[in-house]
Amino acid sequence: MRRVVASAPGKVTLFGEHAVVYGEPALVMTIGRRVYVTAELRGDNNVRIVASDLQVPGVTVTFAGDELLVETDYGKTLSAIAYLRSAVDIVSKYLGVFKGVNITVRSEMPVGAGLGTSAAVAVATVLAYAKVLGYDLERREIARLGWEVEKTVQGVASPMDTSITTFGGVIKVKLLGNNNYEVREVPTSTSPPIVIGYVEREAKTKDLIAKVRKLRERHTEIIDSIIRTIGVLVLEAEKALVSNDLTLLGELMNINQGLLDALGVSNKRLNDLIYAARVAGALGSKITGAGGGGCVIALAPNNQEAVEVAMKLSGGLTMKTSLGGPGALLHPSESTTS
Ligand code: PMV
Repeated sequence: MRRVVASAPGKVTLFGEHAVVYGEPALVMTIGRRVYVTAELRGDNNVRIVASDLQVPGVTVTFAGDELLVETDYGKTLSAIAYLRSAVDIVSKYLGVFKGVNITVRSEMPVGAGLGTSAAVAVATVLAYAKVLGYDLERREIARLGWEVEKTVQGVASPMDTSITTFGGVIKVKLLGNNNYEVREVPTSTSPPIVIGYVEREAKTKDLIAKVRKLRERHTEIIDSIIRTIGVLVLEAEKALVSNDLTLLGELMNINQGLLDALGVSNKRLNDLIYAARVAGALGSKITGAGGGGCVIALAPNNQEAVEVAMKLSGGLTMKTSLGGPGALLHPSESTTS
């Protein structure tokens, strides 16, 4: 019986979400929370998926008299399972081999919050399933297959999330068209001191991408110029990141947020958190990811605690995590071959 454990990290988009869909570069960084996928050959032709620990934001527990009611967003869990299933199919097609497998998934971060969990699930499954079949894929292959999984399940996806969760660290990603893209490592000496805040999501990534597309259809020149401006901003932000110029980085985050708001992807709850963080002393703050709720990041070198408290008082949750850790990896101590 062969058993392999692979893991892949979540991410925050530092700059460039949405514009990346239209070919502009984006800067992305891993977070210290990971998704773990175990693949175990079954010896038959079935695929069994166990997702016993996929944290779903928006779980509601109600005490009604002496009854305990638990409501969860099953939609989010089910869509996470779709990524696992699709990853098995895509790897199997790519390698031309299929063997029945038990896949178990465990997540250290909430699903559907905009931290790139679906890409992490896709990539960790690609890595674990290929390895359990006896194949060592190159990182570029893993990233590409992970992107195929995201596109198959979501319809639209840039290669941003699957690239960062595969390669790790801090990267710049740019779509080149025709299913081609470029990934560059961004050499940073330290991780930017970032606080992550979260509010419940009102809309899915897919719907927010469609919202921007429709706005662009109605105001093509205006929206195109906003998208291009985000691209220019990302290149400035890359320089600020490399030279560790936090004041400049914060200023650019605020400009990026203004442009995302102009694209219609922010909302009141996100803006409340963003402004609360700035008032509490953050050098900059913005949405990270698709928007419509979900996560925000605040750059807070000296006053992380004050910024966290301010975000909580504005109705958000906060998350403590390290940034810039490794990409997808196998956990050799748990891998055995028969
Ligand atoms: O919130 P997330 O992690 O799904 O990020 C979406 C980022 C977009 O740029 C809006 C879409 C994409 O595929 O890059």
